[in-house]
Amino acid sequence: MAELIRDMVPSIEKVRLVNSGTEACMSAVRVARGYTGRAKIIKFEGCYHGHGDAFLIAAGSGALTMGEPDSAGVTQGVAQDTLTAPYNDLPAVEALIAANPGQIAALILEPVVGNMGLVVPATGFLAGLRALCNNHDIVLIFDEVMTGFRLAAGGAQELFGITPDLTTLGKIIGGGLPVGAYGGREEIMNWVAPAGKVYQAGTLSGNPMATAAGMAQLRYLHEHPELYRDLEATSARLADGTRQIAAELGLNYTVNRVGSMFSLFFTSQPVHNLEDAKQCDTAAFGRYFHAMLERGIYLAPSQFEALFVSTAISEELVEMYLKACRESLVEAHRAK
Ligand SMILES: Cc1ncc(COP(=O)(O)O)c(C=O)c1O
Repeated sequence: MAELIRDMVPSIEKVRLVNSGTEACMSAVRVARGYTGRAKIIKFEGCYHGHGDAFLIAAGSGALTMGEPDSAGVTQGVAQDTLTAPYNDLPAVEALIAANPGQIAALILEPVVGNMGLVVPATGFLAGLRALCNNHDIVLIFDEVMTGFRLAAGGAQELFGITPDLTTLGKIIGGGLPVGAYGGREEIMNWVAPAGKVYQAGTLSGNPMATAAGMAQLRYLHEHPELYRDLEATSARLADGTRQIAAELGLNYTVNRVGSMFSLFFTSQPVHNLEDAKQCDTAAFGRYFHAMLERGIYLAPSQFEALFVSTAISEELVEMYLKACRESLVEAHRAK
């Protein structure tokens, strides 16, 4: 399993298997702290990295959908070590680093965000973060729990050509069973116990059943590179079709897409960060969601979740979706 991961994601020289994306992100941050000897981390508003305490500050996904992006039960002591910046805002990151000199252990982000709806990294954003981390000896962590093995065999880092220091993986890597992984530069991963001083272990980590499922999944992806081309074509049809239908109905809605992840935002403004996403008409989204459900299409039930296109989506299903999309958008706005 480790060899497959290393083959597919070359920035991962050494990898540790865990049981979930949450565990992977929590552990990656602990290693970064051990390695740098620093306490603080930077994350972006609306990014979700699982339910580890340090990440439930301005979190995306379910926390955001419930209107509680900061969780009860997270102590002040933990919260003060998590600094947040708006996504796609390099000057804000620079300002945080300047205000906390020599104190930032890691910068963690979704290289393509799926947890405030689909948000695309602006041109130069990932490269800018890479350069800032280099200049300030900060560990750059790409959370590829969603994007890993999905946007390309090598994830978002392959697609955008940016190499992080550490990567976290989940979801696809388990082929449906609970697996996560974190890994990256050997020099950093050598800090993980028992080789190094950063403790991390788990009874069920790397258990045979989940690992077998993960290996079957990764081998399949490895052996079928054409699958990404097909997914791209299907996703383009769905996302472009959605945008066109909305426009034809006089709704100048924003559709963001990268590879097989996309979102229809119920706003005519571009969506580059959480504040933009929050401008959406979520009541209209709710009506649209239910209208789609009545037509047999079960979308992610939140404006702040991306849609993930599956290889199971056939031509026939694309047509069914586009028809339902048109009718549901009409219904969502008629009801207003
Ligand atoms: C980007 C990202 N990171 C981390 C996680 C947490 O993974 P898990 O739910 O497996 O703990 C998620 C889950 O949705 C995620 O989308």
